[in-house]
Amino acid sequence: MCGIFGAIANENVSELLLKGIKRLEYRGYDSVGMAVYNNGSINIKKGAGEIDSINKKLNFLELEGSCGMAHTRWSTHGKPTDKNSHPHLSQNKEIVIVHNGILDNFLKLKNDLIKKGYNFLSETDSEVIAHYFEDKLKNNLSIKEAIKDFIKDAEGTFAVLLMHKFEKKIYAIKRDSPLVLGLSDNRFLLASDVYAFSDLTSKAIFFDNDEFAEVSESGYTFFDRLGKEKNKTIKEFEWEQDESNIDKFEHYMIKEIMEEPLVAKRLLVSLENEQKDNFDKLVSMIKKSRKVLFIAAGTSYHASLLGAYYLHKCGVESQTLVASEFQHFATVDKDTLVIPITQSGETMDVIEALKYCIDKKAKVFSIVNVPYSSIQRMSDASINILAGQEVCVAATKSFINQAVLLLRVAKEFSYKVNLDNISDEIRGVLDKAEIIKKLAEEIHNKPDLYILGRGLSYPVAREIALKIKEISYIHAEGMMGGELKHGTLALIEEGVPVISLISNKDYDMVSNTKEVESRGAKTIIVSNELSGDFKIETENDGKFGILATTFGQLLTYYIALNKRLPIDKPRNLAKSVTVK
Ligand code: G6P
Repeated sequence: MCGIFGAIANENVSELLLKGIKRLEYRGYDSVGMAVYNNGSINIKKGAGEIDSINKKLNFLELEGSCGMAHTRWSTHGKPTDKNSHPHLSQNKEIVIVHNGILDNFLKLKNDLIKKGYNFLSETDSEVIAHYFEDKLKNNLSIKEAIKDFIKDAEGTFAVLLMHKFEKKIYAIKRDSPLVLGLSDNRFLLASDVYAFSDLTSKAIFFDNDEFAEVSESGYTFFDRLGKEKNKTIKEFEWEQDESNIDKFEHYMIKEIMEEPLVAKRLLVSLENEQKDNFDKLVSMIKKSRKVLFIAAGTSYHASLLGAYYLHKCGVESQTLVASEFQHFATVDKDTLVIPITQSGETMDVIEALKYCIDKKAKVFSIVNVPYSSIQRMSDASINILAGQEVCVAATKSFINQAVLLLRVAKEFSYKVNLDNISDEIRGVLDKAEIIKKLAEEIHNKPDLYILGRGLSYPVAREIALKIKEISYIHAEGMMGGELKHGTLALIEEGVPVISLISNKDYDMVSNTKEVESRGAKTIIVSNELSGDFKIETENDGKFGILATTFGQLLTYYIALNKRLPIDKPRNLAKSVTVK
């Protein structure tokens, strides 16, 4: 994963870099580093840890110069240590790079370089890139020629920024990992995504695969893999700039949950107005296809399970598969409509599965949150869920809007639901936060938690379990109620907490709840029609799925708050997973 940010301006850039990289911190926070060019020298500061703490220790703002780059890391090759932090220098200290992605053939490249006498200081795949360029330049190649060779020789994924000690320039190279150039008055900004600079500009140029650019104070030039100049289109992107502000909240997670009524409404209004054409297109593409196949990962996968349920109930053949296993289990052809669902639009597993589908000539309609993301650009058509920027690593409001959109689509296929009051109903759950806080106090010390659902509440059980694991650090299983008796029931003993999600009068779920209660479980019943511990105020099963998720998000938040955990940045995780 990782976030990269580069800037050339007619002012000192260290503050700009620090701000930019901070906005990308959700992509990884194992280490941070910065390199700034200053009249023929390159100065670097870097260290393992989160940006704020490393900045306190090293003070990045001491770096002076008007051209530089920064990196925030999510470790793949090599532990989160100072040495493995980016930027990486070449042996002669003339070239510096930051990298996001994975070089699949780094061992081969590294061994070749070791044979030529290069020493490696880190365990990363990325350091290879710095030495590779030094070697090419030693053989009298220009940087541009060396980049052409790199694109040929490198296997894997990369967004690389490279500076040379003797030039006030940044070279940017991309394959599969996201990279964008932002144009803001007298500044050129290079970043992993538009979030990084959306407070400075709304003009950007998106890199295509195997493309590179040379960026200096006076301008930029794009090249294809053969070094031929390319004309690129400047895109005006829209982004709600205020939403990344934490306002009065202690954490982004709670801020983003509280925004759910607003963003759900915004999405529904847009489907009648500016997104109407796209929405109609989605409906018509579903009608024309033989079957619908969703692809997604993590929380978005759980939203896709809800989508498959909703459509299936209306007689539309629909299935979903986890992106990383997609190619092993999916049958795709030209009559399949593939719907990737992804908040970031950059998840590598989804991109890989999508490439496979495009190869099979399937039609692709994506559901994304981040505009102009790679997956949106790979699709035949796309719709934005308009959840706004989500900063907390755990997805919350984006899940709600994915589910609201899917329910709205199902409505077109005669799913009976009134969505006019969904915002008020979500607010109804938020208004009962005190009840949820008490439940959280009761269970926050438990080592295990089980969540049961059936049909429509099964995806919700999975989603709540995921939230509980990633944010509350409690082992949690989201289960099909019916599967309980085939194994997991053996783990139920006195006092084990079990959340039962009972929509309408699902008597099979009632039986499953009784089964665990009679073995001593402490059940928490979440229902809209039956009495229990938390009442979801809706008459509709489709909406129950959405509202029960908000309940689970709040429960997770309050458990984690009780345990004083790093809610917005859980250990080992990152928001945008751009590696396989
Ligand atoms: C990561 C995030 C999750 C997210 C998943 C899929 O694991 O931590 O919150 O659900 O990626 O991301 P996507 O951007 O494709 O929805």
